[in-house]
Amino acid sequence: MAAESTQIAMTEFTNSNIEVMYTAEQIRERIAELGRELTADYAGKDLVLVGILKGSVIFLADLMRHIDLKIGIDFMAVSSYKDGTTSSGDVVILKDLTNSIRDKHVLIVEDIVDTGLTLTSLEKMLGSRGAASIKIATLLDKPEPRINKELKVHYTGFVIPNEFVVGYGLDSAGRYRNLPFIGIVKDKDAA
Ligand code: IMP
Ligand code: MG
Repeated sequence: MAAESTQIAMTEFTNSNIEVMYTAEQIRERIAELGRELTADYAGKDLVLVGILKGSVIFLADLMRHIDLKIGIDFMAVSSYKDGTTSSGDVVILKDLTNSIRDKHVLIVEDIVDTGLTLTSLEKMLGSRGAASIKIATLLDKPEPRINKELKVHYTGFVIPNEFVVGYGLDSAGRYRNLPFIGIVKDKDAA
């Protein structure tokens, strides 16, 4: 009993199996910078943010509050066929946009770019819909495993090493999206 009372309770947010990579404060500051950049770059343009579900929701929610322009938002959900080592790059649309993007400046908002195949495929699919421009904003960029080296990522929060990260929208088998920070799962098999 005595020992228990001096221990720090381990909760989901203080899980010792997660090593913090970026704190909530660091993320907040970086997103504010990105918002200022986007506000300048898209001034006078008809901008729509397209969030890719589910990983991008927290990033998008924070980013949009730092873009001081008249904007719209929309969402897509896609699924890519991947096995352990290879990615076919084929993406299936699970949920399409609600509104037309014709003549709009589209900013695709992603949580993380890894092989780049999801975004390559998405850009191709959206490319035929008459948008004025299509660009990509990602919170995290993991360049090492990139398969499509030609993919241009226009706005990046942080460039990270080739580690599996969770939190701030990113999941591991559906878990950890609600962590207010970004961290590395130390032992993937531990609960
Ligand atoms: P890719 O760029 O097509 O390989 O896939 C990017 C997608 O893979 C992201 O939108 C995430 O859903 C997922 N992903 C890639 N790396 C990570 C990671 O480190 N943590 C969580 N999800 C990841
Ligand atoms: Mg994703």
